[in-house]
Amino acid sequence: MGQRKGRRVVLFPLPLQGHINPMLELANILHSKGFSITLIHTNFNSPNPSNYPHFTFHSIPDGLSETEASTNDLVSLLLLLNIKCAEPFRECLAKLVSDASEEPIACLISDAIFHFTQAVADSLKLPRVVLRTGGASSFVVFAAFPLLLERGYLPIQDSRLEELVIELPPLKLKDLPPKKSVVYVSFGSIAALSEAEFLEIAWGLANSEQPFLWVVRPGSVHGSEWLEPLPRGFLEDLGGRGHIVKWAPQQEVLGHLAVGAFWTHNGWNSTLESVCEGVPMICMPCFSDQKVNARYVSHVWKVGVQLENGVLERGEIERSIRKLMKEKEGEEIRCRVSKLKEKAINCLKHGGSSCKSLDSLVSHIFSLES
Ligand code: UDX
Repeated sequence: MGQRKGRRVVLFPLPLQGHINPMLELANILHSKGFSITLIHTNFNSPNPSNYPHFTFHSIPDGLSETEASTNDLVSLLLLLNIKCAEPFRECLAKLVSDASEEPIACLISDAIFHFTQAVADSLKLPRVVLRTGGASSFVVFAAFPLLLERGYLPIQDSRLEELVIELPPLKLKDLPPKKSVVYVSFGSIAALSEAEFLEIAWGLANSEQPFLWVVRPGSVHGSEWLEPLPRGFLEDLGGRGHIVKWAPQQEVLGHLAVGAFWTHNGWNSTLESVCEGVPMICMPCFSDQKVNARYVSHVWKVGVQLENGVLERGEIERSIRKLMKEKEGEEIRCRVSKLKEKAINCLKHGGSSCKSLDSLVSHIFSLES
């Protein structure tokens, strides 16, 4: 069948077999209906192009280390793929869009788990369709998360695992998917650490036994270019539970279902972003307004805990992470931050306080015109 203009589709599967197979099947079906197929894929678990001579393949670097790629911690892997693939994917798709020798692209079809692709598609003015490779029944459960949170089912308490979820028969609480387990760690764009502090943080995270994603800016540890002070094999020994990156799209990370706590220096932007995404904080202010912000977070709004024993110490770090992620006090903090998130959302709505303040600013600027 002859190809018609605008009948090219670009597909981007998540690099796990249970996601690659359905995407390739969909590609075959679309091809049989007259579409030409371009597949963007990661180096990690790449499909074999020789099995699909009728498709065009473009590979992008995913930046995963060997340990990261072989982890058993699926949630961390998905989070990391969403961070590390974003830029290479954007570059690759932008080239395809601007290639005048090819047919125009009708749309991007991306795995739903690659959530960053929506922003990329929008920026290139390309329609995006997502392929969900899970069943409709599990989709209903994911879609019900806001309701489950509102009705107090989430976060799940160990003592309630056998209870029925009345709104979703016949599910029990223990059947709900595993979420909010990852600790995201970032200390903004200025704060720096001594080597001793850096190592206490590393061991505190390791000993907490929670999965973590840690942003370490190159040069932010005194006397080191990047991660040299870490003991040899430190991350490998964690079996993929810990990931360190140089930069992360913070707002997207905080909005991810997997993220359960934000260990922050309480710069005002980070504090606001955490509240707006309903993520409880572990506060470690360094200077300036950060100390005020941290005190309000921990003692006034009570949506976080503060590390403040004077010296950064791995035992206190481990205890604080466990308190927030596993204990009753953590559950209460989590509930409060969800409510604060609602208030923040209302402030931004029409008639909300932030919205009104911005309107007043605009009126004020107009009033200055001579
Ligand atoms: C500085 C001061 O340190 C802080 O006290 C003051 O409140 C604002 O100015 P900074 O240290 O950069 O801020 O922290 P913060 O205010 O939290 O801003 C950092 C911004 O960079 C956030 O918007 C965050 O989302 C973004 N960021 C940071 C990323 O997107 N990715 C990263 O990896 C790190």
